[in-house]
Amino acid sequence: MNKLRIVVLISGSGSNLQAIIDSCQQPEAKAEVVAVISNRDGVKGLERARAAQIPAEVLNHREYSDREAFDAALKQRIDAYQPGLVVLAGFMRILTASFVAHYLGRMVNIHPSLLPKFPGLHTHRRALESGEQKHGSTVHFVTAELDGGPAIIQAEVPILANDTEESLALRVLEQEHQIYPLAVHWFASGRLHYQHGKAWLDGTALTEGGHPFSVVSKG
Ligand code: GRF
Repeated sequence: MNKLRIVVLISGSGSNLQAIIDSCQQPEAKAEVVAVISNRDGVKGLERARAAQIPAEVLNHREYSDREAFDAALKQRIDAYQPGLVVLAGFMRILTASFVAHYLGRMVNIHPSLLPKFPGLHTHRRALESGEQKHGSTVHFVTAELDGGPAIIQAEVPILANDTEESLALRVLEQEHQIYPLAVHWFASGRLHYQHGKAWLDGTALTEGGHPFSVVSKG
């Protein structure tokens, strides 16, 4: 059986990319990472891709006159690999509406908060400052609304009394490395899809927050 072809977009460390690469190397994997594209040169995620013998490219947004021009070039690079799924893994760019429309239903993102709480930047700081007791991360389909697409899976972590932004970020990241490969696996297995503005898992529309990770089996 042909594996689902994935292109992963990154801007930095790529620890989520690594988790996905690792899970795609399992014998039961139904997906393969066929390319990694970064808008920043010299980042660790590019090294991770090359270490796994995955084609890795840099497309520097600063070399384009505007967002439309960059996104058009990015789309061309991505589509050259004919992916079935585009995975945003710490890709720090706001995407144009036409780019998002082109990949609707076949592009996912991971956002470090319990969406719909804290879309946008500095989520760990904001969760701490607002006195939340729990925090987490959400995988969602990408739509035109920033961090607003339908949620697929969400992992929750406690906020501890002595937490700093860094300690909280680490706790969240550990969970991300579980839920992102799982969401990719669901999509690759045909269990997950996007329709009518919703995420569907095994034929059932997921509700706000998506599937809670704690009650999910790893299979
Ligand atoms: C993660 O926290 C993810 O939620 C956010 O960016 C970070 C990427 O980390 N979108 P990494 O590059 O995968 O290590």
